Amino acid sequence: MQMVTEDNITELAVERWGTAHDPRLAEVLTSLVRHLHDFAREVRLTEDEWMAAIQWLTSTGQMSDDKRQEFILASDVLGLSMLVVQLNHRFDERATPATVLGPFHIEGSPELGYAGDMAVGIEGDPLYIHGVVRDLDGRPVPGAVLDVWQADGDGAYEAQLGVDEARLRGKFASRADGTYCVRTITPKGYTIPMDGTVGDLIGRTDISHFRPAHVHFLVTAPGFEPLITHLFEEGARYLDSDVVFGTKEQLVVPFVRHETTTAPDGSSPGPWTGADYDFVLQPTTEELA
Ligand code: BEZ
Ligand code: FE
Repeated sequence: MQMVTEDNITELAVERWGTAHDPRLAEVLTSLVRHLHDFAREVRLTEDEWMAAIQWLTSTGQMSDDKRQEFILASDVLGLSMLVVQLNHRFDERATPATVLGPFHIEGSPELGYAGDMAVGIEGDPLYIHGVVRDLDGRPVPGAVLDVWQADGDGAYEAQLGVDEARLRGKFASRADGTYCVRTITPKGYTIPMDGTVGDLIGRTDISHFRPAHVHFLVTAPGFEPLITHLFEEGARYLDSDVVFGTKEQLVVPFVRHETTTAPDGSSPGPWTGADYDFVLQPTTEELA
């Protein structure tokens, strides 16, 4: 008969879960058991607190589906998503750093030409994001695909609105000289969804539930690691308190206001804003070998 005590239960559980057939699964599960038990011991978890946690996890699961992923949001605000990004994308320091994907990327965005407008019919100040896609040595990378998406002036992404047409998203290719240009509208800071279990927890703290103004990019090119990142507006509110820990100094870009000059696509849209940024891609590991 197995005699279970407060002192030996951790080793017994570790031994049991160490029998997982896949060695990596055994490593992950035994470590998880140790950390969970240590956590319960450290805070001397009460039964009421254990039940509250079970109910919170149950509600979080119940409100999650293919459109709303409350567990990912929980991971984001706990800093876990960004930690996993950092552990898995240890790029050369010359490369543009990665940040969180977020829950609002939609596959299959329309392909737009150089300076194509991904904000047709949507209210906002014209913004041109332009520059060059480069390799680590500064050489232009032609034919890179920049998949771009952002929220509207009310902080809403297409994925949250359930509309039929592509809205504030598009794919742009870098040209033979590596240059790219995106026409959009200036982004605004916005709040993460606060009407769920994550919002309930945040509401019991002093945590700011806002993200600073940003535009999302997924940049891909043959021979390079896919780059999931954002560009943030220099001077934007919440840069020092991003609720999902996604900001990095190298991703903060001056948004320069032009009153009357010609925009990068040769048009004269009246006052417009420009953000000049070169993306630097990390070669794939196979390329390095
Ligand atoms: C976003 O930037 O779209 C985002 C990222 C994490 C959580 C919520 C939103
Ligand atoms: Fe976002």
